[in-house]
Amino acid sequence: MPCTYIHCAAERHACRESRGTLIQAKMPEEGQKLLARFKGQVQTIYLDPPFNTGKQFEMKMRVGAKGYRTGSPSLSLPAYDDRWEDRSHYLTMMRETLILSRELLKKEGTIFLHIDSRMYAHLRLLMDEVFGENNFLNEIIWSYQTGGRARSYFPRKHDVILFYARSKSYYFNLKAVPVARNESRSNHMRRAVDENGRSYRSIVSGGKEYRYYDDEPAYPGDVWDDISHLQQKDPQRTGYETQKPLKLLERIVSCSSQEDDLICDLFAGSGTSAVAAANLGRRFLCVDQSSLAIATAGKRLSQGTAGQALDYAFEVEAPCGEDDCRVEAEVFPAITSYTVRLISFESGKAQAAGISGMDAVDQWSCGFVQGDVYRRCALSARSAATPELAATLEMPVCAGEPCVMIVDIWGNRRFYLPMRRY
Ligand SMILES: C[S@@+](CC[C@H](N)C(=O)[O-])C[C@H]1O[C@@H](n2cnc3c(N)ncnc32)[C@H](O)[C@@H]1O
Repeated sequence: MPCTYIHCAAERHACRESRGTLIQAKMPEEGQKLLARFKGQVQTIYLDPPFNTGKQFEMKMRVGAKGYRTGSPSLSLPAYDDRWEDRSHYLTMMRETLILSRELLKKEGTIFLHIDSRMYAHLRLLMDEVFGENNFLNEIIWSYQTGGRARSYFPRKHDVILFYARSKSYYFNLKAVPVARNESRSNHMRRAVDENGRSYRSIVSGGKEYRYYDDEPAYPGDVWDDISHLQQKDPQRTGYETQKPLKLLERIVSCSSQEDDLICDLFAGSGTSAVAAANLGRRFLCVDQSSLAIATAGKRLSQGTAGQALDYAFEVEAPCGEDDCRVEAEVFPAITSYTVRLISFESGKAQAAGISGMDAVDQWSCGFVQGDVYRRCALSARSAATPELAATLEMPVCAGEPCVMIVDIWGNRRFYLPMRRY
């Protein structure tokens, strides 16, 4: 007997406090809804928007247990489309999103806009216009080794991160982001030991001696060349193109916020900023227009990547996939717990793509539904470490109707009421 499909507007953890929210929404069109809830509450905004590259970006999604075990089969799924009618359409989207971002920020807040050389000049002026020239703090150059090998011009090896404050009373803590001292850069300095036995390097400039003690931390300047781009085989990789390194986001979050502050990302992609925020004890509000991005970010927060095991509680607000699949699942109630079994999943879209049955399921979970909110208790998600999905999941008895959530390989989330077996 197929299960009944139901609609759930939100997913929450059943018994743990949420560290943040993932929202599937398009900016700036759905920005007013965000403002109604979060105006003036955000400490740090990180934006890594489309760069107006004229390209379509993809996600490499492994399919089924064999795909996760061996890398094949896999599908290249559309992640997002960065093709624009013209530059002015792109800049209109960016202007409205920046205005929205300004309204979301607290007066102590700051914003980091991550871009590359294509739109840099336009966006620098736009940032001046929206945030005020006087609130400009830095043009951070993130310099990396990977990328093109152009021969007709110098290879492009950096992105720009524009850093602006919401007001003069912004929060910033350079001491929160110490870096290793770069020995090769201080080779030209004189080495010495002071009267207390502390070794240092020194340089004289303008008649004044500047000392850099070996036992004192060093801090980054506005050129960041100590964080590499993700390599092809980097264990952090989710398969989502344009994913940024966690270290980059952890530096941004650490210097600009304190514990429990709210970090917001309106182009969240694979959820790097959400993971950075959660790792550092901050809350997050991460938005993306794509269901695949929300599913990828959610999976990353729940179980991490090969590079980091995680288990954060969070909320998701995203439209449900359509009622076009046939699912069989059953629940066996006991005195203090339930066992839920997922028996089968059939989807026309998957069949058309040559993917059979459960191979089209990337994650499933069980929990309880109250009104239109699903409260998740237990999850099984495919990964290289756990390619097979669990056949059954256990959950404690909670208020509400037992419910199953299935996330397919396209990132669509669907909810079903399992058959009760007594
Ligand atoms: C460069 S990627 C972000 C990558 C991310 N920083 C990461 O580490 O994975 C840009 C993201 O913006 C999303 N996006 C593009 N236009 C959008 C819009 N108008 N509203 C919301 N999200 C959008 C895309 O779906 C894509 O995931």
